[in-house]
Amino acid sequence: MDKFVITPYIDEISALVTSSLKQAVPAAWDVPAHLKEAMSYSLMAGGKRLRPLLVIAAAEALQGSREAALPVACAVEMVHTYSLIHDDLPAMDDDDFRRGKPTNHKVFGEAMAILAGDALLTHAFYSVVQASKHHGVPAEASLAIVEDLARFAGPSGMVGGQVADMEGEQGLTDIDELRYIHEHKTGDLIVFCLMAGGRIAAATAEQLQALETFGRSIGLAFQIQDDILDLVGDESKLGKKTQSDVKQQKVTYPYFIGLEASRAEVDRLTTLAREAVSNGVIPHPERLIGIADYLMNRDR
Ligand code: IPE
Ligand code: IPE
Ligand code: MG
Ligand code: MG
Ligand code: MG
Repeated sequence: MDKFVITPYIDEISALVTSSLKQAVPAAWDVPAHLKEAMSYSLMAGGKRLRPLLVIAAAEALQGSREAALPVACAVEMVHTYSLIHDDLPAMDDDDFRRGKPTNHKVFGEAMAILAGDALLTHAFYSVVQASKHHGVPAEASLAIVEDLARFAGPSGMVGGQVADMEGEQGLTDIDELRYIHEHKTGDLIVFCLMAGGRIAAATAEQLQALETFGRSIGLAFQIQDDILDLVGDESKLGKKTQSDVKQQKVTYPYFIGLEASRAEVDRLTTLAREAVSNGVIPHPERLIGIADYLMNRDR
């Protein structure tokens, strides 16, 4: 079988998600103008749209509907964007650039950046429900997706991971603790994406398990790669400043085990991910495999 060419697929989904996000925060919406502006500023600044891509690719791997997956894809991008706005605040990583532009608080001020993040997080749940209201996703599936989103993005997921990251800055002595941070601050939302795509396509328990394992592996690999790129990446490609972790004295994978071992770990995790969806349980895994391989070689 020919290798699935992934980049046109990534570009197509990214354009679709961007136009759908535009509609999700419409200009005519009765919301304070500055709030709408601050939300749109970060949403439209041009992220990679990896998480929405994973929602849609997981649904399509099980022959689910792209249109039905789209509101959930937009929801996860809203949650992710909120997390970036807050992550960049002076009280957190104190970063000035994101997605190739000044960070949200640099343009709109800290109070508005906090509120724009709050608004994106809340609006995400509104968006998830639209999959049932307009695209025939069974209410049971939407309910499970809402529960997963609260769990994977909340205290036991991403927010808990951000807290562990903050508290671990100094004094982190053990790679297992670091893996815990990465799995929660970044991995959990990525696992959510795979499972939500699966739920939209009425995945079986066995299929959900395979998608979760795939998500776990690429999620950890993604944050290790982010740590590597913070050290050796190109700012103009990344759209954010490098050496942020050094500046914040963050303990990272390269700090602990070195660059080469970190790269080898990304490689190993990508192989695990590939295997998780290649045993016949997922009928059309080629998009997911293509994305895993693409991410391993990313420079942005
Ligand atoms: C950056 O995520 C934050 C992490 C969790 C590593 P991305 O690298 O996906 O950022 P965007 O969405 O492309 O801006
Ligand atoms: C961010 O991790 C994780 C979340 C925003 C939840 P980082 O702090 O490493 O992300 P970047 O490098 O600023 O994008
Ligand atoms: Mg951070
Ligand atoms: Mg940061
Ligand atoms: Mg980083």
